[in-house]
Amino acid sequence: MTVESIFEWPGEGVSRVPFRVYSDPGIYEAEQDRIFRGPVWHFVMMDREIPEPGDYRRARIGDTPIVAVRDAGGGINAMVNRCVHRGNLVCIDEAGRADGRLTCVYHNWTYDLSGRLTSVAFQKGAGGKGGMPEDFDLSAHRMTPLRVAVYRGLVFVTLSDDTPPLEDYLGPEMCANIDRVVGRDMVILGTYTQSMANNWKLYMENVRDSYHASLLHLFFTATRINRLSMDGGIRLSDRGWHHISYSIAATDREEPEYDPEKLRAADDDYDIADPRIVRGWPEFECGTTLAIQSVFPNFVLQQTLNSIALRICTPTGPDSCELSWRILGCADDSEAERAARVHQSNLIGPAGLISMEDGIVGSWVRQGTRSEPDKASLVEMGGRDVVPSPGSRATEVSVRGFWRGWRDLMDI
Ligand code: FES
Ligand SMILES: [Fe+2]
Repeated sequence: MTVESIFEWPGEGVSRVPFRVYSDPGIYEAEQDRIFRGPVWHFVMMDREIPEPGDYRRARIGDTPIVAVRDAGGGINAMVNRCVHRGNLVCIDEAGRADGRLTCVYHNWTYDLSGRLTSVAFQKGAGGKGGMPEDFDLSAHRMTPLRVAVYRGLVFVTLSDDTPPLEDYLGPEMCANIDRVVGRDMVILGTYTQSMANNWKLYMENVRDSYHASLLHLFFTATRINRLSMDGGIRLSDRGWHHISYSIAATDREEPEYDPEKLRAADDDYDIADPRIVRGWPEFECGTTLAIQSVFPNFVLQQTLNSIALRICTPTGPDSCELSWRILGCADDSEAERAARVHQSNLIGPAGLISMEDGIVGSWVRQGTRSEPDKASLVEMGGRDVVPSPGSRATEVSVRGFWRGWRDLMDI
């Protein structure tokens, strides 16, 4: 089924998004084919999560289960996590260390660390009876190998042979921000995963939506961590598929738009009793206090003050997705710096003082839109096209950039 046979995109282009894309099962299936199995690099894990030979970790790229394994030579192999016998998951634990081989638990077929089939239990049968046919050739079978690329410790995998090299896919601006934020010896301070009752694209729109941040998130505005009255802007990759929204808190100005009479989020009665949650240090020479970067389709690199996190939003159906977080610090953080990062992590995650709202608003949009799939949203803040916005975040340009990437790949 082609996407064109399901619906037509509105003539206004990416300044309209038909509600159908957030709920239609046919569109979900087409996305699996064209985006998740398409010419796209997908972040799957950090290389430090599988440091030693034999270490493996599972991940999912859309509906496709994969496993990445550190081989004896120090490289990383990635394969579809599926046994060639009857399709069982070869690795059933989320992560572990293989003793030189991977063994499928169902009938004990084994693979080497690159996914080549190395043995079949009872290949010659038992007592001279049964077993595989004489001409069965072990070397003709293997787990499906996948392309892997690592940038600054971030492991990306693609299921397509047509995907350009990773650095070309990211582009220089995206690489520069990755260099700035995690181009150091990073450590994982914690991980968690949350389920959301909405299509994955509603979350990815939210991540790119610099307009909502100081409006939906009362805490951002009240604590002056992020306001549109600060210097900041939007950077986009060449085609507009990826984005960075950034701001510099020290440049905040009094703007009449943040009149508490007009804005719920500017209510001056709100403050924090324990300021440790936002206390930090000026970590970056450029003065950037907030930078949210998205790499199409579903990877996010976040710097909020000194809180650094990786997020990956994986679809689990037309109406549901899973958001996985890795909270990061630097290996050489002092005790006080580590404590500040941990305190600031109260801002994010499913119960975080900022991110809590991002976790629920998608399901409200779902409730608001699902009954009328032929209607569309209005995405005109900051114009109707996809061009960088160096001076302002009062724009939805990076949301339009997401839809440009989506339409390019879905061919609609
Ligand atoms: S399904 Fe893997 S050994 Fe049978
Ligand atoms: Fe948000």
